[in-house]
Amino acid sequence: MAASKDRVFSGARPTGRQHLGNYLGAIQNYVALQDQFQCIYCIVDLHALTTVETTVDLRTNVQEMALDWLAAGIRPEETIVFVQSNVPEVTELHTILSMVTSLGKLTDLPTFKEKARLQPHNINYGLVGYPVLMTADIVLYKAKWVPVGIDQAPHIEFAREVVRSFNHRYDTQTLLEPQMKSTEVPKVLGTDGVQKMSKSLDNHIELAATPGETVKRVMTMVTDPQRKLRSDPGNPDVCNVFSMHMVFSSTDEVSMIDLECRRAGIGCVDCKKLFAKNINAHLKPFRSRRNELQKDQDRVWDILRDGAKRASQIASQTMQEVRAAVGLP
Ligand code: TRP
Repeated sequence: MAASKDRVFSGARPTGRQHLGNYLGAIQNYVALQDQFQCIYCIVDLHALTTVETTVDLRTNVQEMALDWLAAGIRPEETIVFVQSNVPEVTELHTILSMVTSLGKLTDLPTFKEKARLQPHNINYGLVGYPVLMTADIVLYKAKWVPVGIDQAPHIEFAREVVRSFNHRYDTQTLLEPQMKSTEVPKVLGTDGVQKMSKSLDNHIELAATPGETVKRVMTMVTDPQRKLRSDPGNPDVCNVFSMHMVFSSTDEVSMIDLECRRAGIGCVDCKKLFAKNINAHLKPFRSRRNELQKDQDRVWDILRDGAKRASQIASQTMQEVRAAVGLP
């Protein structure tokens, strides 16, 4: 029998259609990890409840995100893709873990402080416990590796501490300390060229956009702010369009732009048109796979249900061990 592969777990809140920032920051990496690991990717709808006050779009957001993941190359035959709330054991584990968690540590986390600052009118109990639920996600599936962006580092460190206190308190080895698998990706800025690309800031470029919509979005991108006139030389080093060319365009094109921009040989409009053309070409196979998948809405939900079934098998095994370790009758 082949040696079993290490397990990877990652979760993402259901934010609907994914954008270039999600793609470069997470999805691409999720896809690549499948070659080496047994991967479990979870759409964390319960976590979403900590920040949304209405769930009207939740179902659509889950579906759109799942479509993007699948079209991008997540392979549900080998990888488990599922919706968090479909495996309710996570909430039981969350409760049990909360008893070995220090409240002070939770309220000291920079991620909690930031969220509390953003929604002072809705500092709910779940928001404080967000990292405990995230810990439950990871340890329920005994994942060794957790691929996340650097902003999640405090949560992984926190998860490791919770695991240590659980194992210590109940004198057991049941839970596994996860490790962060940091993704080395450049910060993807939005069309404003200043802030991180994000749907809520409306500075994003959707993967599933049509080629025409993509061109429109790209044309609004802010370039080198010092370059006012077409005849002014530009500085690619401070231009967000140029950083995107470095990701999506050929090395020849990148060197051409680097040279021509600095001597006003190419203007920002042409530079953006070229970027839009390249990104549309790059996303063409993704978009056609997505269109295919979209024709059969049931298929995505079938895949998610099947993922939940497979995830449940692991979850119920872990919970048996946890209950026994804790001594619950
Ligand atoms: N907290 C993560 C985020 O905001 C999402 C998440 C929830 C997660 N559970 C997880 C990530 C488990 C990795 C593992 O991006």
